[in-house]
Amino acid sequence: MCGIVGYVGGQSATPIIVEGLRKLEYRGYDSAGVAVIHGGQTQIRRAVGKLKNLDKLLLEQPLTGSLGIGHTRWATHGRPSEQNAHPHETDGITVVHNGIIENYLQLKQRLQEMGRKFKSETDTEIMAHLVATEMQGGKDFVTAVRSALSQVRGAYAFVILCQKEPDKIITAKNASPIVLGIGDDESFVASDIPALLAHTRKVVFLEDGQMAVLTKKEVTITTLKGEPVQFTPRHIDWSPVMAEKGGHKHFMHKEIFEQPTAIADTIRGRVLMEEARVHLDGMNLDVKSLRRLVIVACGTSYHSGLVGKFIIEAIARIPVEVDLASEFRYRSPVIDKETGILAISQSGETADTLAAIKEGKSLGASVFAVCNVIESSIARECLGSGGVLYTHAGPEIGVASTKAFTTQLVALYLLAIHFGRERGTLSKEKATEMLNHLRQIPQQIEGMLSREASLISIARRYSKARDFLYLGRGPNYPIALEGALKLKEISYIHAEGYSAGEMKHGPIALIDDKMPTVGIATSGPFYEKTVSNLEEVRAREGKLIIIATEGDSKIATIADDVFLVPKNDPLLDPILTVVPLQLIAYHIADLNGTDVDQPRNLAKSVTVE
Ligand code: AGP
Repeated sequence: MCGIVGYVGGQSATPIIVEGLRKLEYRGYDSAGVAVIHGGQTQIRRAVGKLKNLDKLLLEQPLTGSLGIGHTRWATHGRPSEQNAHPHETDGITVVHNGIIENYLQLKQRLQEMGRKFKSETDTEIMAHLVATEMQGGKDFVTAVRSALSQVRGAYAFVILCQKEPDKIITAKNASPIVLGIGDDESFVASDIPALLAHTRKVVFLEDGQMAVLTKKEVTITTLKGEPVQFTPRHIDWSPVMAEKGGHKHFMHKEIFEQPTAIADTIRGRVLMEEARVHLDGMNLDVKSLRRLVIVACGTSYHSGLVGKFIIEAIARIPVEVDLASEFRYRSPVIDKETGILAISQSGETADTLAAIKEGKSLGASVFAVCNVIESSIARECLGSGGVLYTHAGPEIGVASTKAFTTQLVALYLLAIHFGRERGTLSKEKATEMLNHLRQIPQQIEGMLSREASLISIARRYSKARDFLYLGRGPNYPIALEGALKLKEISYIHAEGYSAGEMKHGPIALIDDKMPTVGIATSGPFYEKTVSNLEEVRAREGKLIIIATEGDSKIATIADDVFLVPKNDPLLDPILTVVPLQLIAYHIADLNGTDVDQPRNLAKSVTVE
């Protein structure tokens, strides 16, 4: 997610803005910029890379003025470059933005037809043109912004300046965070609290569909229609370190709770409900010519690939193999030009995965990626071939992958629907049903997160166990693997994920009353078989923690602990069933005092073999 800071008051704006952006650095970014209005002129400084590059530029070309905005950009539309860095200015209107404008293509086309010229590849620049166009039609700044906002669809946190009205900052929010800081004869706006704490602890969180006008003297909030909104500032007593984690104890916990937003952002702008089709920006794969798909990945991303196999084969009827990248690259794979190779990677820098797609490319395959970091090495390797489908999870700081994993699953589901519709294996009716199921996921996850307390109790009961077994079938078998990986990598407790159907072929010898077994037995085609495997555990005094579907009253008769997930399409189950497993692993690790965000021996991105 991008970082935003704005200031209006009696002090010099630039140092306040840049220091505020520095407090948001942990969020990850690839360029930064500042705009200040002084003496009737808007001055902008922007630099690619880290803030130190902007610092250097500001030393060479300083900015003065007491009204300004700044931004650190996490690229979603348009590569990381000075030209695409924010702020964006046109005709005296300057904008910074966090979010995704869903209808930017239509708006850009309309503005270009009106003769407006664009300087960047971003969706953000459109807002500057919309406001400038409205003001050229005679509206004042506030009215022009309101009118421009009525034309925009999507997620946004806009902060806007106007050279003609240099005493105010306007900000507006929908789905992306904005917090206002109230000072003495000064006002602040930011995308997150850490940027404000050095100046004020009196804050107001803007709500979706609201806009605010900040001047040196006051902050006023209205709805987008202009109706006044009464507000009471809150006092924030977090420490700066706590503030970086949004009040969460660890980044991993914050990122687990960001999943509803990350999933909504990954879906946003890609679903064409009228045609029941999916628009995959950045992909240029000849889907119809594909005879076979090979997914290559590591770790958690490998687990999402295993789920992807189920989803893509069920929906698009393309044969899918899933291979550990470190194995694929050395097994002289049988690949031809009718094979598609899909790399799944959060960081886009995993050495084995990068090597695997280079190997596939050299054998004539089309390569494409599901990736969370724009312009990463894996993304760049695929640009000249099948392209990249970006997850919009935002930076993932915790080493244990959570929101990147669930957004990968969403991306794979979108991919499968796209393949199915293109290849004629998925009807419009069925696709409509699936897309409606997909859009329920964010609030279904919100509902589960609100029941965290029951997962904390489960973690307390089993935090001293030294071995765990995780069992699942079908698309939940990879979730058993993922649940086990989450536990072992952050709590250092041995855990093994296994296909429930394999119990009789060995692992059942492990079962006794000291070994908790986590079973995933959600309703659907695998339910009965999985329950009978779990009853075998029960019969041998094994402790059973079962993830089941809401409405299942039978499962409690065999389980020691149950957590129920909402009902959805069985192919979407994994996105739901992984969430309680993430929180059980997190709370066991937290109770045992391990370094949850930076576990021993692990790196966030494994850029070596
Ligand atoms: C995830 O919890 C792990 N930290 C690790 O397995 C990770 O998924 C793996 O290293 C792959 O990383 P990537 O997705 O960035 O390629």
